[in-house]
Amino acid sequence: EIMLQQTQVAAVIPFYLRFMSRFPTATSLAGATESDALAAWEGLGYYRRLRNLKASAAMIHEAGWPDDLLTLPGVGKYTAAAVGSIAFGRRAACADGNVRRVWSRFLARDCSLVEAESQSAGMMAGAATGEWNQAVMELGAVICKPRDPKCGRCPISFGCASLSQGCADKYPTPAATSAVRVDQVCACAIRGKRVGVRLCESGEWWQGMYAFPRTSVIAGEAGKEAAQRLGLRQPESLGTLSHVVTHHRIRLQAFVGKPTRDMTVEWRTLDELARLPMPKPARRVTRWLEPVL
Ligand code: ADE
Repeated sequence: EIMLQQTQVAAVIPFYLRFMSRFPTATSLAGATESDALAAWEGLGYYRRLRNLKASAAMIHEAGWPDDLLTLPGVGKYTAAAVGSIAFGRRAACADGNVRRVWSRFLARDCSLVEAESQSAGMMAGAATGEWNQAVMELGAVICKPRDPKCGRCPISFGCASLSQGCADKYPTPAATSAVRVDQVCACAIRGKRVGVRLCESGEWWQGMYAFPRTSVIAGEAGKEAAQRLGLRQPESLGTLSHVVTHHRIRLQAFVGKPTRDMTVEWRTLDELARLPMPKPARRVTRWLEPVL
C-alpha cells in the first residue's frame, strides 16, 4: 500500500516482488542500511515513502503492530484503512482517487474523498472489507477509468446515475493542474574512468541518493553557462530529459566535461554507480556516459 500511494498497481508489481525478496520482514528492513534500502526502492521514486516505511518497520520490529495504524510514519487515513481491512479484516472503508471517481460517477456529482469513503462504508454491509475496498479501487483503475470508461463491462452500471444521464465521464470535475516547469542543468565531470557525483543532503530532493551536481538555469542563461557555473570546463551536451517530481516538471540538460579544481564531488566508476542508489533522471544520465567513459 505504501508503494501504491503514488504509483499504479501494474507498475508496482515488479518493484514489489524485488523489494519483498530483498526485505521479506519488518526486522530485515529495520536492520538494513539506508543506502541498501534506497537501492531496493530505486525506480519507484517518492523516496520519503521508503524512509517512512523503514521507520515503521523499526517500530513494528520493536513493539509489534500498533492498534492504531495511523501512529506509523507515512500511514495516513487511506493507507490505515487499506492495510486495516486487507491485512487485519477491520471494518474500514478506504477512498483513493479511483474510489472517488467511481462514486462521483455513480451519483453524478463531485464527491470528496470523505464522501466517497462514507459511500463505500454504507455499501460494504457484510462483505469481506479488504476485498470490497480492493474491488472498488480496481473498478476505478480498469473499468471506470479517467478517460474512456468501459461502462459496457461495469458490474454496477445498472445503478449508475452518470450513465443513465448520458454523462459517463463528466465527473469528477478535473482539478486544474499546477505543475511548475523547472529548467535544470547537471554537470558530469570526468576524471580518467571516473565521474563526479554528490550525495543529496537532507532537505534536498533525493536525500541519501547519489546524483550529478545540478543547478537551475537562471533566466537568460545558456545551459552551457550553467554547467560552467557548476564547475565544468569545456562542457559538451550529453542530452536532455524530462522528469516529474511532486508538482514540478523538470527539464534536465546534461553536460559532460572536465572538472575545475574547486568541484567538490566523489569520484566513482560506472560499475560503482550501478551499486549506489540514484534517482531516475541521474540513472538515465549514467547510460549516456557509457560511450564516453
Ligand atoms: N487496486 C486493487 N487492489 C488495490 C490495493 N490494495 N491498493 C490500491 N489499489 C488497488
